[in-house]
Order: sequence, then C-alpha cells, then structure tokens
Amino acid sequence: MKVTKAVIPVAGLGTRMLPATKSIPKEMLPIVDKPLIQYVVNEAVQAGIRDIIFVTHSSKNAIENHFDRSFELESTLEKRVKRQQLAEIRAICPKNITIMHVRQGETRGLAHAISKAKELVRGEPFAVILPDVLIDEFSCDSLKDNLKEMIARFEENGKTQIMVEKVARESVKNYGIIDFAGSENAENRDEHGHAIYAPGSFVSVSSLVEKPSVEEAPSEYAIVGRYVLPDNIWEYLEYTPLGAGDEIQLTDTLKLLLRENEIEAYVLKGRSMDCGSKLGYIEAFINYSMHDTRYAQALKEYVRNSGLLD
Ligand code: G1P
Repeated sequence: MKVTKAVIPVAGLGTRMLPATKSIPKEMLPIVDKPLIQYVVNEAVQAGIRDIIFVTHSSKNAIENHFDRSFELESTLEKRVKRQQLAEIRAICPKNITIMHVRQGETRGLAHAISKAKELVRGEPFAVILPDVLIDEFSCDSLKDNLKEMIARFEENGKTQIMVEKVARESVKNYGIIDFAGSENAENRDEHGHAIYAPGSFVSVSSLVEKPSVEEAPSEYAIVGRYVLPDNIWEYLEYTPLGAGDEIQLTDTLKLLLRENEIEAYVLKGRSMDCGSKLGYIEAFINYSMHDTRYAQALKEYVRNSGLLD
C-alpha cells in the first residue's frame, strides 16, 4: 500500500526552549531564514508525501498561518515588484500538497498525539515525522533519501519502519532505544563489543524501551523522529498504557505492535540534529548558515577575525 500521508505532531509546549517559546511555537524558530517546520515539510514532500496532518494546539496558530496563503503580503510584494520574495512565499506550501490540522487539546504524549489523527489518516499506512529532529542535509550526499527509502521499504514488505542512529551511551536516557534481533551475529562491533550497523541498512527489531537508564539500555541505537506505521497501528495506540514521564509513549505502542508484527530499524545515513534542545538548535543554525552560499564566506571571515575561537 502506498504511503502518501504524514502526521507531524506540533502540540508540544516547547519547554526545553523557553523563554524563546513562551509565545512562539518552537517549530517556528528559524534556521537561517526558514522556520524549522518548513524544513520538515520539505523533507516529507521530497519523500513523496502528499497529505500532511499537523496535530496541533491552540497556541500554535502561527504554524497554520505559515502554510496558508497571505493575500495581503502577496499583493504588497507584487506591487513592490519583489518577485523573488513573492515566489519564495508562494512556494512555502508546495502545489498539490494538502495540509490538515487536528487539535490535541491536552498534551499526554506522542502516542496520544498520533491517535488524534485517526479520522484524517483513515485506514492507510502513514509516516510520522517529529519536527524537533532535522536531518543534517550536509552530512551525506544521499541523505534526502532517508525517509524515501523507509517508505519504499515499507511499500515492499509492509513492515513498520523506525529511523535509528547510534548515540553516546550517556545520552540513551533522552531517547527510545531499540534492540536488534540477531545482534550476537553482527559482523561489525565497536570498541565495547557492541554491534554496529552500516548506514542505510534495515535491521530487524527485537525490543524497544523508552528513555532507559544507561544500565537498562539494550543498545546505543536511538529512535530519531521518523517512522512509517502500518494501518493497524490504531488498535495498539488505543491500548497503550501510561509510560515514561507519565505520558503515552509511541515506543510503548510499538512494543505492543512488535508482539504480533515485525518492525525494522533503518540506520540513518548522515546524522540528525536535535533542534528541541538549545545546544542542538544553535549547532543546526551554525551548520545551515555555514552551508548557505549567501552567508558562508562572510561568516567564515567573521569567525576568523573576531577572535571567537581563541
Ligand atoms: C521522542 C520519542 C523518543 C525518540 C525521540 C527522538 O521523545 O518518544 O522515542 O527517541 O522523540 O526522536 P521526546 O524527544 O519527544 O521526549
């Protein structure tokens, strides 16, 4: 079955980014000159997604407005003959893409957010994209294909797909962590003897745990914000109990799903950036600025001459 829908949960209050996010949605924070959410929507569209469902909150209207037409702005730019800006504004919501919204009301966790999209997804498999996570466009040539490859794999074998990335052992408490079936037979191992898998590979998942302690973590492979879920996920979402942080966790839903269905981890090509943390956000801003041909040269000169690195 084709995957043409994506659910993007944007109802979270962004407390990790306060005070910036007191009255601005965290998804609207800019990276160079575009809000985070626009990068994520572009990624979805490039992967073949046609319908995007935001699970949102009353404080997040700026996101809906960003993807809506603004006739006043467009006519002003037209009058002032600002052709390039006009084209840019009009391209924010790509043609043939439908954007829908559903409210989460109370924020009770990722699985709860996704369950709100049920009526709009309607019996089809779909992608889930967490907008805090950006895939670093410059870390790998073919990285734009990550989500596309997960979707192609799902369309081929019908197995749930989760994107994973190896993280530092001390960071496992911030993520959903997975264990791989047959990891004892893995060909490659790190210096601690733990299995490592090549970027771009698909590996069978044997268990998942949300935000484990260092001692509990079955591996250092963390879920990084991209999923392709099957059309029977709703029954498991319905029965998912409260989990880590007193929230209804998608990782726990996937644990239930795994009892009766297969799940594959897709090892990210390149690397992800956690823009939901202040340091990750600052790093992403620097990264994208330094790769932007409009600013890279001037920025490099600024850093070189400013004494900032001394
Ligand atoms: C969520 C998921 C977690 C995942 C993380 C990064 O956690 O629950 O499994 O590893 O996103 O994609 P959050 O960062 O919202 O606490």
